[in-house]
Amino acid sequence: MASASKVVFILGAGPRIGISVAKRFLKDGYKVAIGKRNPRTLHDPEHKDMYSVAVDVSQPSSVASAFKEVTENLGIPQLVVYNAALATFPADPTNPFTIAPDAFQQDIAVNATGAYAALYHATSRFLQLKEQDRTVAPAFIATGNLTPFMPKPLFVTLGTGKSALAYLINIANKAYKERGLRFYYVAKTSPEGGPPQVDGPEYAEAFLQIAKGELGLEGWEVRFTVNNQGNIVEISH
Ligand SMILES: NC(=O)c1ccc[n+]([C@@H]2O[C@H](COP(=O)([O-])OP(=O)(O)OC[C@H]3O[C@@H](n4cnc5c(N)ncnc54)[C@H](OP(=O)(O)O)[C@@H]3O)[C@@H](O)[C@H]2O)c1
Repeated sequence: MASASKVVFILGAGPRIGISVAKRFLKDGYKVAIGKRNPRTLHDPEHKDMYSVAVDVSQPSSVASAFKEVTENLGIPQLVVYNAALATFPADPTNPFTIAPDAFQQDIAVNATGAYAALYHATSRFLQLKEQDRTVAPAFIATGNLTPFMPKPLFVTLGTGKSALAYLINIANKAYKERGLRFYYVAKTSPEGGPPQVDGPEYAEAFLQIAKGELGLEGWEVRFTVNNQGNIVEISH
């Protein structure tokens, strides 16, 4: 059973994956903080027993304030989930460079720059945690997809951002693995390894298994699917 003092901070707690992850970790005994863009949704009854904090990940100062607030109120997160994403699609999928540069900038701010800010604030705290207790294994999980590995013109802003995110997770793993920190870029796939059906509870189960050290054994880039028995299985790639 998880210790009641474990804290998870989920940035981008939308109705599909984010909130499912929050509920699963709450059930496992974690203290759960959810970062939401729209403060009006902070007091939703669905968020009962969770600590809600306003965060706009496209603003580095907002990410800094959110980490400070969560740390002061719940403690240092041992697990950070970066789930926020934003996508603008070209009207014509064969013509990717028709998206206005301002829209590109906004999407990259959410998909990549916000993730860098989260890594910045999470990693310094993870190192602090390790100094306090060498047995903890802090982890940063980025909700990914296959766009960096299967590029399509339609996903011009999402794929560019996720590619940067995957790169950041890759170098974080290289830089901090020996110091006991864990970083994962996680994507669900179909059983054949292609784009999946999205199911929040399945992501939640996969993330919990990663937190427990049961999944993600092949490295920082985790691809999982769900087999006929309903079990999460890691896909080699
Ligand atoms: N494996 C795959 O192929 C696959 C498929 C689908 C999704 N995904 C990934 O899963 C993650 C969650 O997606 P989803 O499908 O659950 O749908 P979603 O609702 O689109 O999730 C996106 C989240 O990003 C948040 N967000 C966007 N801009 C933000 C900002 N400026 N500040 C703070 N939060 C912001 C949204 O917050 P609000 O609630 O405030 O809107 C929402 O929580 C994404 O990273 C997505 O790329 C992967």
